[in-house]
Amino acid sequence: MTASRSTFPTLITFGIALTAARAQAPVPAPAAAAPAPAQAQANATRTAPVPEAEAHRPSPIPDRIIRTIAADPARSIAVTWRTDAAVVQAVAQVAKAEHGPRFAEKATTVAAVSQDLVSNLGPARYHSVLLGGLEPSTKYAYRVGDGVDWSEWFQVSTASDNPEPFRFLYFGDAQNDVKSMWSRVIRKAYGDAPDSAFLVHAGDLINRGASDALWGEWFGAGAWINGMVPSVPSPGNHEYERPRLPDGTVVPDSKGVLTSHWRAQFALPENGPAGLEEAAYFFDYQGVRIVSLNSNEGQPEQAEWLDRILAENPQKWTILTFHHPIYSPAKNRDNAELRRLWQPIFDRRKVDLVLQGHDHTYARTGLKSYENVPEGGTARDDPDATAGTVYVVSVSGPKMYVLDPEQWMKRSGEDVQLYQVVAVDGDVLRYEARTALGDLYDAFELQKQPDGRANRLVEQIPDTPEIRRPAPKAAVAE
Ligand SMILES: [Fe+2]
Repeated sequence: MTASRSTFPTLITFGIALTAARAQAPVPAPAAAAPAPAQAQANATRTAPVPEAEAHRPSPIPDRIIRTIAADPARSIAVTWRTDAAVVQAVAQVAKAEHGPRFAEKATTVAAVSQDLVSNLGPARYHSVLLGGLEPSTKYAYRVGDGVDWSEWFQVSTASDNPEPFRFLYFGDAQNDVKSMWSRVIRKAYGDAPDSAFLVHAGDLINRGASDALWGEWFGAGAWINGMVPSVPSPGNHEYERPRLPDGTVVPDSKGVLTSHWRAQFALPENGPAGLEEAAYFFDYQGVRIVSLNSNEGQPEQAEWLDRILAENPQKWTILTFHHPIYSPAKNRDNAELRRLWQPIFDRRKVDLVLQGHDHTYARTGLKSYENVPEGGTARDDPDATAGTVYVVSVSGPKMYVLDPEQWMKRSGEDVQLYQVVAVDGDVLRYEARTALGDLYDAFELQKQPDGRANRLVEQIPDTPEIRRPAPKAAVAE
């Protein structure tokens, strides 16, 4: 959503005018919940789940609260949330966090920008604010609501405006059984690295971009983590849907379009190419330029844009994320055109690391450049090389494809849910892939070299076997 450009000077009077926006009292608490024995008995005979429209119905209470990365994360916090249409004027409040509770009395109130979204389950309203004019490296608390019903206060931090060590989390496709099977991954990842600066989602966050219930699962899995750690999502092909006729059938010969949920529920930097706002964007974080590309459409326009924003990149490190891999680890899923179009730019602009999804396996390259596709020496073998990027494909959800082993894979895996912790400290970038259990599965370091030479790659692969799908049992002759 186009976030409000409001900063502290743009305040609204809080009190009578605001509460008048919603006439009713706060949403009452539910009645005592413990089921009577007879009720429990009845539940054992239930055969149908609670209907999606009921399970995911919005109310005046803010839900699906998500902090998304702001273009200037040292001085601003972007937040989006959902309510029903009863909330006419939504607001956020923000204050510097303090040891005690009195910070709340000093909070500043900022009006949200709101938009209606009619999903497949019915109408809702999404609200977003950009809390600007903040101080770098500072703890704040914010909450969202309408003056009647509020969220909790989320305690968050702004980034430093200087290069300083930090780490972040990266997730390949979550996509399927998100509530049931992906929730454990994001929660384990957060438990492992609770100081993470942001969460990268490399596309296919859910399986059907137009399904409100699936978005409900995704927001439920991240829950309050989403309110605290900014998300950096890239659209995958499953966030695209072809338009449908009133009878539900797909419009013939139509092209897929990015789900209308995307811009309604995320307030992302609007610094991408025209027509791809919030689907392609970049931000700088403590010495790293991070670019999220949209590999689904507008690839030539993004090539020109990327070349330009990386030509003037003052940061030491450059990390890209997008959905479709430059090197595919699955059979018959090669993206040769994308490689031809984008990889020479990655080489020319010395991109350090590319984080991708789409192929529901794990595979990680050494230092690769366009000229040595698919075989041959790497930048690491050539001391004069000036280019060489590490490419990663990963999967965090439970949908698994078969791996097609290739020479370029330094470490690969099948049937393993993973998350990654990436840490940047001065001239060193450390990458760790960990399984859903938190076990180290892959690791390396990139070390910056002088005189524009390619990074030095130091392999730190753990001494554990690769996880592979067991071969199908051969048929036994009768
Ligand atoms: Fe996928």
